[in-house]
Amino acid sequence: MAQACRTVLALDALATQNLKEGITFSRSSDGHCFIIYRQQDTFRACRNQCKHQGGLFIADIEDMGGRTVRCTKHNWKLNVATMQYVNPPDSFLQDELEVVRSADGSLELLELDPPDPWAADPRPVQDLQPGEVTLTYITHACMELKAGGKRMMFDPWLTGPAFARGWWLLHEPPEDAVERMCRADLIYISHMHSDHLSYPTLQLLSQKRPDVPVYVGDTSRPVFWYLDRSGVNLTNIKVVPFGIWQNTLDAVTDPPAGVRVFKEFWEFDVYVDKLNASVSSEVFKDESWIRVYYSWAGFQNYNLVIRMIETDDDFQRLDGGYDYLVDFLDLSFPSVRPQREHSYLEIQNRVGVMRNVVLNGLLWDDLYIGFNNRISRDPDIYHHRFWTHFQSELPLSAPDWNTFLRERPAPNPAPTPALLPALLPQQGHSSLFFHFWLKLVRWVEWVRRYFW
Ligand code: FES
Repeated sequence: MAQACRTVLALDALATQNLKEGITFSRSSDGHCFIIYRQQDTFRACRNQCKHQGGLFIADIEDMGGRTVRCTKHNWKLNVATMQYVNPPDSFLQDELEVVRSADGSLELLELDPPDPWAADPRPVQDLQPGEVTLTYITHACMELKAGGKRMMFDPWLTGPAFARGWWLLHEPPEDAVERMCRADLIYISHMHSDHLSYPTLQLLSQKRPDVPVYVGDTSRPVFWYLDRSGVNLTNIKVVPFGIWQNTLDAVTDPPAGVRVFKEFWEFDVYVDKLNASVSSEVFKDESWIRVYYSWAGFQNYNLVIRMIETDDDFQRLDGGYDYLVDFLDLSFPSVRPQREHSYLEIQNRVGVMRNVVLNGLLWDDLYIGFNNRISRDPDIYHHRFWTHFQSELPLSAPDWNTFLRERPAPNPAPTPALLPALLPQQGHSSLFFHFWLKLVRWVEWVRRYFW
């Protein structure tokens, strides 16, 4: 389909002249909302639609410069002077409209129409005969599609947990689900998240049909990046470029009557014990693993400090667990927060999952999506660059812990205590003391800067 340029808002000369400096919210006659930013005779414009989930922007009263708008849904912020989102920082650019001024002083906002020509030009709809195509919901995102005598299965997560031990299947799959997966002509896995690419499930598959064709998209980080270390042996994985997607089905939310709630009889311990085996690894006997791990991770030159705290299952700080700071500006590991202005995250992590992630070089999805950590942030900003790195850009091979164990200094006889306890709180009163102490340090620094 041809792509045309369409006028979405037109202002006559007077209305254009009356546009104030800075931000103007405007509505077209057909009810669509726009944001226009004026700096003298220069204009920029976009739809009033947040890139996150389509929320509406309003003026950001915290921005004294009058360049920022705030989304009313989840507080993302957009600098309209640059069309760059400032919360999350370093993240997205807003799609701009073309601003055209005419000689008579009027102004038009132009948009490509349609923006995605392929979405407006689907193949002609073909009638299906009854029973020609059937789609069966199995569980979670797993479905079976039968068409033209062929049987395909999508995103089979049929056993074991996902995201370390954070997610468990809610509904029991049909009794013959594994069998149906093994008989499939094709399996499609949409992405690498473990509720779609389930290694415990693929383990069952590979034992019976290692050569079943498994299709995945050609993504920047390979979907099967962890296959070699997973113990799963699939011999017929086909990596294909993504095509065109069309959403044609409503979500399935209710299972058929009689389906049992699965998680009530899961054997949690089998999986949790496996993860917790990481806790006693030799690697963690010496605190230098922290430097090795974050150097391997390769994220730095970013003004963010995190405090990582190992906890038990209930997110209570663990006696003898690690508790340390990482300053990503220069990738250092200070014992107290630096005095410069910086963003700060305090992250409590279940020790078994955290150490399993570290040992195997896994993505932090297991922690973050798996509800295996708790995070407080100051200020309340989502650090897009940081999370993108740790959730999808970590190196493909795990840290070389064998070399680390060979070359590290002789370990302490007892597990190394956390880095910070000498300086930071254990619990309760000392925590309060620490915060007061920190505030005092900052206050003294502020007074020093101001008066000297
Ligand atoms: S829709 Fe705008 S922040 Fe979520």
